[in-house]
Amino acid sequence: MSDQRDLAASIRDLAAARNAVILAHNYQRGEVQDVADFVGDSLGLSREAAATDAEVIIFCGVHFMAETAKLLAPDKTVVLPAPDAGCPMADMITGAKLAAWKAEYPGVPVVTYVNSTAEVKALTDVCCTSANAPQVVRSLGADRVLFAPDRNLAAWVAEQVPGVDVIAWQGFCPTHERIKAQHVLEAIDAHPDAEVLAHPECRPEVLVLADAVLSTSGMLRWAAESPAREFIVVTEEGLLHGLQKAAPGKSFFTVDPCAVCPNMKKTTLEKVLAALESLEPRVEVPEGIAAAALASVERMIAIG
Ligand code: 13P
Ligand code: SF4
Repeated sequence: MSDQRDLAASIRDLAAARNAVILAHNYQRGEVQDVADFVGDSLGLSREAAATDAEVIIFCGVHFMAETAKLLAPDKTVVLPAPDAGCPMADMITGAKLAAWKAEYPGVPVVTYVNSTAEVKALTDVCCTSANAPQVVRSLGADRVLFAPDRNLAAWVAEQVPGVDVIAWQGFCPTHERIKAQHVLEAIDAHPDAEVLAHPECRPEVLVLADAVLSTSGMLRWAAESPAREFIVVTEEGLLHGLQKAAPGKSFFTVDPCAVCPNMKKTTLEKVLAALESLEPRVEVPEGIAAAALASVERMIAIG
């Protein structure tokens, strides 16, 4: 414990010396969240990256998030302490696959979840996150959209925006996909008074059991504001750390088996310190795609 405290103190000192901001996703290890300047969901982290005055962004999350930060802050040094922290869902579609899919649907706009590579974003009309996907689709005013790569988020958006035909790429998040309705029903049996909060990356049969379907930061706000005292949290377990801080005195339960994203857990305090010392490994976006990828992210941010 004192080792962790020493590490955290060294990180804070070095971050100040390097004029670095530490951004962490809500699924990061608790000790990594605690050392960060800002902890948030994908949308919040993008906004922080775009707004920061720091020269260096240390991104505690997965690769597509750091890449989005680099798109929004091209003059900053963006460092991903765990360079092998990827997102299997983001890798379920490539630029070539998206180009071929678009060719089957000429003129149909493409909405892409930020959980995607810059190459895919570059072929996208507008990006979205779990916090704004229905709003983004609605803003297009189209009767059909192509939605990639998450089929579960696509199905949920289709319900929220009736009248729009949401054609889904068949990608998914392995961490959320493992959660079955039965696991949630067992948790409800064990905690009948709890509100069920679920992330839209969950299967449709799981989402119908939820009292609220929310992004990770949406869950933090909901838990703080709800009169309920107990919550079943149907998403990656790292969020419980933030939930306990956002709503102290309330109780949070995961489903069994608990959902863990192995990539989110690759960032440790040791790696954050090493990243601050060396300012490596850096994330870069190939020049040929950066402008188009950025445009799709900026269109999303402009929607709100
Ligand atoms: P949020 O934007 O809701 O934090 O989700 C990101 C993510 O990767 C969920 O799996
Ligand atoms: Fe990707 Fe799922 Fe991990 Fe989120 S939880 S980073 S979608 S694998």
